[in-house]
Amino acid sequence: MTVKLNPAFKGRDFISIHDYSTAEVAEVLDLALQLKALQKDRIPHPLLAGKTLGMIFQKPSTRTRVSFEVGIYQLGGYGLFLSPNDLQMGRGETIKDTALTLSRYLDGIMIRTFDHDEVLELAHHASIPVINGLTDLLHPCQVMGDLLTALEYKGTLKGLKCAFIGDGNNVCHSLLFGGAKVGMDVVVAGPPGFEPQPEILALARADAEATGARLWVVEDPFEAVEGADIIYTDVWASMGQEKEAAEKEKHFARYQVNNRLVAAAKDDVIIMHCLPAKRGRELTDEVMDGPHSVVFDEAENRLHAQKAIMALVMQ
Ligand code: CP
Ligand code: NVA
Repeated sequence: MTVKLNPAFKGRDFISIHDYSTAEVAEVLDLALQLKALQKDRIPHPLLAGKTLGMIFQKPSTRTRVSFEVGIYQLGGYGLFLSPNDLQMGRGETIKDTALTLSRYLDGIMIRTFDHDEVLELAHHASIPVINGLTDLLHPCQVMGDLLTALEYKGTLKGLKCAFIGDGNNVCHSLLFGGAKVGMDVVVAGPPGFEPQPEILALARADAEATGARLWVVEDPFEAVEGADIIYTDVWASMGQEKEAAEKEKHFARYQVNNRLVAAAKDDVIIMHCLPAKRGRELTDEVMDGPHSVVFDEAENRLHAQKAIMALVMQ
């Protein structure tokens, strides 16, 4: 097997794309492409033989759970699904004690939770790499899969224009960080009061100075998609916001990704969505099932991108 793993990644956490350099992001994507090719040809690549990943889920998941579990298996390792019901953390054991204990058994932890600070605390106390599988603030593994997808469709990332239509949420934040690192312009269009957090935008803009990416926020979705290579959307109410869903629908009604909005972008625009989607709300059936949609490629590429991340940090 010719796959080479850069030792500079060994033992590091993967909590935010902001923590990685432009060259490192490119290296993860390159490895993901190599691993994808090996998997397509059914060539074994047991880079993590005998290693174990614990997967803590405080929120539901289809893609993240399945792609991490399948991914660690394809790398020759083993994945343990740990729900709050299975862990003493659900009964009040501290994050610190959980981190110290799990570090004695496992080679890596993937965690999906609400409060981003919990992931930072877990990583602080764990002696093994911690991978962020989504928090209320960020969803970095999603965006690594999305960058891989955009790269496959467009051949390059630098200079692309991505229009994110909707809530300035976790996915939007990671997309801003990702765009900044790879030199992809990201414009966010959403209703007033639902913009991405100013601190995230400021950090991403600082990163973007090195790559030339432009990052900005507008109110009008049609203005945002003009000349766009990518239209990206996500649910209007994220996990944990169920009570606000009805109220948010009123604010977001004009931000639906439908055929009219798609027609206002470039002819070869690709439509992205992290999934799960609320069909008929943030995007229509015609768009999701239409010729521009790459949403299931994104879902697949979670697997390949995360295998690269695991192989590098858990090597
Ligand atoms: N996109 C994503 O993270 O999907 P799941 O919630 O199904 O894991
Ligand atoms: N913003 C969504 C993403 C789901 C993958 C949420 O947090 O629910």
